[in-house]
Formats: sequence, C-alpha cells, structure tokens
Amino acid sequence: MADAPTHEFDKDYWERHWEQRHGAENRAPHPYLARETAGLEPGTALDAGCGTGTEALWLAARGWQVTGADIAAHALDRAAEHAANLPKSISAQWIEADLTTWEPGRRFDLVTTAYAHPAMAQLDFYRRLATWIAPGGTLLIVGHLHTATACGDHPPAEAAATLADITASVAPLRIETAEEHTRTINGPGGHGHVLRDAVVRATRPL
Ligand SMILES: C[S@@+](CC[C@H](N)C(=O)[O-])C[C@H]1O[C@@H](n2cnc3c(N)ncnc32)[C@H](O)[C@@H]1O
Repeated sequence: MADAPTHEFDKDYWERHWEQRHGAENRAPHPYLARETAGLEPGTALDAGCGTGTEALWLAARGWQVTGADIAAHALDRAAEHAANLPKSISAQWIEADLTTWEPGRRFDLVTTAYAHPAMAQLDFYRRLATWIAPGGTLLIVGHLHTATACGDHPPAEAAATLADITASVAPLRIETAEEHTRTINGPGGHGHVLRDAVVRATRPL
C-alpha cells in the first residue's frame, strides 16, 4: 500500500473532536498495553497522541516516567484533570505538540501510540516514532488495520495500514509482535463500535 498523502486531521480537527466529547472518558486502557509491556522494565515513555491520557497514566501507575504528547489542548486539559484525581505518585508530563514537526531532543525506553492519525502519511508518522527509541527500547503501535474486505467500522483509509507496511516502516527495529485483532468498544452514544486493530511491537537492539 502506498503512503497516503496528507489529509485534514490537523489541530483544528482534533480540538473540535475533543471539544465535542465533553464527558469524562472513563475507559480501560486498550488491551494490548498490559500484554505488550508486561516484560519491560519501566523507564522513560512517550505516549504519542495520548488523547485524554488513559494509557499514559496506566503506564505512570506502573513506574514509567511518562510524557504524554498531543496536538489538542482540549485533550491534554482532560488528561491533567484525570491525573489530578489519582494519587500524587501517579503523574505524567503533558506536552502540547504537533508530533509531525516536534523534536523530542532525546530518546525513550518506550514510545507507544494508539490510533493517532496526524496530518501526515500514517507510515511516515510511524517511521518518525521509530527514530525516538533508545537502544534496547520498544515501540508499540496500535493502529487501524487496512483491510480489503468490509469488516469492522471503517476508519478513514488514510489512517489505516497493513501489518506488512507498518512492520516495514519501523525498520531497522526488530519486530517482536505483529498481530491483527478485532474487538468491539463502546462508541459515542453507547453504540458498539468494531475495531480492526494492527498491533506491532518492535525493539531497537542494544
Ligand atoms: C483517535 S485519537 C486517539 C487518542 C488516544 N491515543 C486513544 O487511544 O484514545 C488520536 C489522537 O492523536 C492526536 N493527534 C493527531 N495528530 C497529532 C499530531 N500531529 N501531533 C500530536 N497528536 C496528534 C489527536 O489529538 C488525538 O488525541
């Protein structure tokens, strides 16, 4: 699949997205986070496109020093509110940044991203995240799976990718997990929403 051109998922789009979702986002972290980080020693972590911070705070509660970065101030305000309701020992640094241009100036032991689709080709975004992994560190991507058949509720085509394209995009990292999953979540209005997920975990050799 060729890299998609840019599209309209810019800051305005994401600020509106989070403005329209007023209620507290009360959900469990996605199921791959616990599974894929189970064998990792906590260190520094970046959640790229962290939204309202559910995954970032889950990691922080398990000893990771977490940076949650997102382009949408509305999302980060909610992440900070969420954190304020937790014990003080569980905290993260929140950074409002456009990750298509932001430079962290450092590498992380873990970079994780879930369903973040910015205004750049999806595979170029994953390539960029791969460069931020420290030696021995891990990249965990949970993204919309590109499927040829109508299965699940369709994400925007430019936000989806095949497993083969994702794994190729993160070279030279070593692929540890490359899986496709289907699950149903509670969507807006309480309706079931079928997700077809691509889950890729890759490590940078020491
Ligand atoms: C579908 S939401 C997913 C949020 C969260 N990871 C989750 O699983 O609920 C995509 C997130 O990516 C963020 N995002 C999109 N483009 C971005 C960019 N260029 N830089 C940083 N964050 C971005 C959005 O603001 C949004 O919070």
